[in-house]
Amino acid sequence: MPLTLTVAELLRSQNFINAEWLDAAEGGRFNVVDPAMDTAFTSVPDSSAIDARAAVDAAHAALPAWKATPAKQRAQLLKRWHALILQHQEDLGKLISREQGKPLAEGRGEVLYAASYVEWFAEEATRSYGDIIAAPMPSRRMMVLKEPVGVVAAVTPWNFPAAMIARKIAPALAAGCTVVAKPAEDTPLTSLALARLAELAGFPAGVLNLVIASREHAAAVVDVWLADSRVRKITFTGSTPVGKHLARGSASTLKRLSLELGGNAPFIVFEDADLDAAVDGLMASKFRNGGQTCVCPNRVFVQRTVHDAFVEKLVARVGSLIVGPAHLADSQIGPMINARAVEKIERHVANAEALGAKVLVGGRRLRNSRCDGPNYFEPTVLIGVDGGMDCSCEETFGPVVPITCFDDEAEVIKAANDTPFGLAAYFYSRDIARCWRVAGALETGIVGINEGAISAETAPFGGVKESGYGREGSRYGLDDYLQTKYLCQTI
Ligand code: SIN
Repeated sequence: MPLTLTVAELLRSQNFINAEWLDAAEGGRFNVVDPAMDTAFTSVPDSSAIDARAAVDAAHAALPAWKATPAKQRAQLLKRWHALILQHQEDLGKLISREQGKPLAEGRGEVLYAASYVEWFAEEATRSYGDIIAAPMPSRRMMVLKEPVGVVAAVTPWNFPAAMIARKIAPALAAGCTVVAKPAEDTPLTSLALARLAELAGFPAGVLNLVIASREHAAAVVDVWLADSRVRKITFTGSTPVGKHLARGSASTLKRLSLELGGNAPFIVFEDADLDAAVDGLMASKFRNGGQTCVCPNRVFVQRTVHDAFVEKLVARVGSLIVGPAHLADSQIGPMINARAVEKIERHVANAEALGAKVLVGGRRLRNSRCDGPNYFEPTVLIGVDGGMDCSCEETFGPVVPITCFDDEAEVIKAANDTPFGLAAYFYSRDIARCWRVAGALETGIVGINEGAISAETAPFGGVKESGYGREGSRYGLDDYLQTKYLCQTI
């Protein structure tokens, strides 16, 4: 199916460096694949170290003037960018859906989500305050200034092609940093369209630079940024192994890091929960983007006394989900991003079954006249899952709900925390004392209490343990792009 946009020029096929649209210096290109059909539909530059360096040159040259630009002016440019993103919501939504596979309604929703970060940080730009400190001697004045950290390298994932890059670029630009960015190789088109809109908004040359590279060449680009001492910060969303590689790689130049890494979110249903609300919360959270989010519940714990009632309600809802390609208006679950993703889901289900879990609904790949491609997977509910199964230890990143039964609060908190990861956790209970107790005991950066939809531009998103560090969104999100300078003056 051809990709038709109202504004055709939003479909870009070159890097954006120093306000110029450029092919990769060595001429390479690679295909962008539609995950619904598993076929290529356009191509983009396959960049190398040369392009990565050119982007840093541009960002570094642009830094002094951008840093000195009054915050109010930076905010105005961000507001213009925000308005353009909203104006082009439909085209951006189509790009997201085509390259990432999520249903068009979700694609449109993601554009609003991305825009909300741009608007938020436009507003925060003017609210970056320093401090005056009470000096220990009468002859001294002590002050704290907040300054931009410098050139920021942003490396972003495929699951939210607009929102993840927006929530890194917007605070960086708001703080007065300049940016070099590499979006995921699966989904480069949305970020290129966002860069075109930033260009139209009027950001100066070199303030924002985008370099596209294939999976094979991604490391060559990022390694240049890791080694270059002019890059002062790396911000990354993606897997924990890659996050650790970036932490190691940036050690030689001691860069600041924000790492939003893997999760293994527990979702706990206590016997005093409103079961209908818990099913609603689980459906919203688990099946957002077909289960391909870092904050998706990955382990569902249900108290034995309500297990059967909860499972019955859940199975009815999961069984009625409509799977299909993004462009069909009734599709609720799209294809998975690629063959590797589907293979992992299959492996998790097979491993759980082999170790004694039971599939109540779904459990297989789906291919029919509606889902006419290799990357669809049936929404699935598994019961009898335990902590030793692959689906409990690794992020499945797909539409699978693995359910484990528990008897008491202490047992489930221990199980929920029994993971190296600590991004999000959810629980449902109507007991106020339990809500405070459990929220305090869960080792995660985010806790949804009787709520499955926790993400918002106003809230700090990020994890603890091997889910990373740093926060995105909220007033804390700007701090990640600012450094503290202390001035001491004798008067
Ligand atoms: C993610 O999956 O990494 C982000 C999800 C969100 O922003 O809610």
